[in-house]
Amino acid sequence: MDLIIAANWKMHKTAVEAAEFCRAIRSREADFEGVEVLVCPPFTALSAAKAALEGSTIKLGAQNMHWEAQGAQTGEISASMLLEFGVEYVVIGHSERRHLMGEDDIQVQQKIEAALEYDLKPILCVGETETEREQGNTEKVIKKQLSGALQDQDSQKLGRLVVAYEPVWAIGTGKAASAEDADGAAKLIRNYLRDKLGSKTADNLRIQYGGSVKAENIDSFVGLPSVQGALVGGASLEVEAFSALIQAARKAVAN
Ligand code: PGA
Repeated sequence: MDLIIAANWKMHKTAVEAAEFCRAIRSREADFEGVEVLVCPPFTALSAAKAALEGSTIKLGAQNMHWEAQGAQTGEISASMLLEFGVEYVVIGHSERRHLMGEDDIQVQQKIEAALEYDLKPILCVGETETEREQGNTEKVIKKQLSGALQDQDSQKLGRLVVAYEPVWAIGTGKAASAEDADGAAKLIRNYLRDKLGSKTADNLRIQYGGSVKAENIDSFVGLPSVQGALVGGASLEVEAFSALIQAARKAVAN
């Protein structure tokens, strides 16, 4: 199974900057064999990124979407709008959206359903806050987020799901989870998916780790049999750093 490494640029990069990055990274793609690499630019840079990646193996993801097909939703973007730009993946339920924008499990569920309906591949983010962790509620929180997001979904379509375990306290803090914590959470997620979808489907899904991942620590995550990729914020903004991270991941898996 190929690793999946996604660059989550958050609110970084104009269209010009995104195109520049995409042109530079695609010149390295021959070195990315065995890794599915995708960039998730802001909506406004999708068009420029698409053009710069034309004919490349590097894929496009979006950072969010609305569940309605169209309508009176000022400021929102629908699945069909993303498809127009060649978007294949969409990040859903990122902790910054849950905590800063008040996104709840019901909305996350609706977004996953719409993404699946439009043949997008959702990257569902789950993970506990520092307080939830200190209170010993990590498992409970992850299970609640999974059951909320995945209830009433078409199990066949869930074969396209990616789950990212992103402990909130590790995002953007430089304090990544330990390999042991990431392994524990990834196994919990895998077991949940097995119960829900059966081993055949669940064992083919990829689980990413996210939260302060960089070239220097990615080996401790993708080196785990339970983890098949990473969702990367800060270390995905510079071509050199992101390429080095992908190389380090390949090396860790080859070992
Ligand atoms: P980070 O962000 O790599 O900057 O910690 C990860 C994420 O939020 O997806």
